[in-house]
Amino acid sequence: MNMQTLIDTARALVADDKGVLAMDESSPTCNKRFARLGIPQTENARRAYRELLVTTPGLGESISGAILYDETIRQKKADGTPIAQAIIEAGIIPGIKVDTGAKDMAGHPGEKVTEGLDDLRDRLAEYAEMGARFAKWRAVITIGDGTPSRGCVEANAHALARYAALCQEAGLVPIVEPEVLMDGDHTLARCSEVSEGVLRTVFQQLYAQQVMLEGLILKPAMVTPGSSCPEQVTVDRVADETMQCFLRSVPAAVPGVAFLSGGQPGELASARLNAMNVRFKSRAPWALAFSFARAIQQPAMEIWLGQDANAKAAQQALLHAARCNRAARRGDYKAAIEGI
Ligand code: 13P
Repeated sequence: MNMQTLIDTARALVADDKGVLAMDESSPTCNKRFARLGIPQTENARRAYRELLVTTPGLGESISGAILYDETIRQKKADGTPIAQAIIEAGIIPGIKVDTGAKDMAGHPGEKVTEGLDDLRDRLAEYAEMGARFAKWRAVITIGDGTPSRGCVEANAHALARYAALCQEAGLVPIVEPEVLMDGDHTLARCSEVSEGVLRTVFQQLYAQQVMLEGLILKPAMVTPGSSCPEQVTVDRVADETMQCFLRSVPAAVPGVAFLSGGQPGELASARLNAMNVRFKSRAPWALAFSFARAIQQPAMEIWLGQDANAKAAQQALLHAARCNRAARRGDYKAAIEGI
């Protein structure tokens, strides 16, 4: 393991106010999103869509890294260039999703545990060979009546830490994603309590597995009320509660916190990221960045609709969303909406 390379890559992923484009939807998830818009659910449509994303002119000015799915990292552009190569040429760091999905957890009704540790060492070596410099593993934590259980949080945190250790051994920066889901009617206070417990457990496990904190990126959900909670709160309140929770539970050695969007409308995700940077950038020890999928891609997908003729307009929408989130990192999001 070259520690300095890991540190340099982790820092590069959150440098210059840029963020990560998550475009690693599994084929079933990508197909679901295509189906809703009447886009054919074929390998070639997924390939064409991902080619459109990564060839957006100027994307590398706002996007530092792009997370791919196994199918995509093996695909080529129409002109024969490997997708990973096209990403590198755009000045973007290629990354890869390496978990094999969140599965029902035995003995824990309503809860999931993420799998994918079997053969992970070999898979990481192959992905590194294909150009990947970082990886992602997503654990999901469900807030409900009696959940999350201690067993679920500990099993997921342990798997995240074993994944992270294997990544660093292979020279890949692990993105550690313990997603506390927004689904449900829980309050902001309950989300904060659960998120703090999850983060503390994850960092205990990372310590036990001897993961170097300077060489990873944390990818959490923002602390919000559940999506069906009757009591929603202001953007500033989400920023304050998220930061209070993270300042208590995320060590200062971590270079970056790159939020997921989790199904929030894109503009709301940007506004909340903006508020965190306006209110906390000067005292947060880590960069407050983004690693959004839906909040960056959704408008582009809705414009593309599987039609070549719409590709340019879709790329413009993607670029706009990426620029807005870069502006949010600078605490300059409102100006960006009007000015870009
Ligand atoms: P969303 O931003 O759509 O939540 O996706 C982020 C992600 O990569 C989930 O694993």
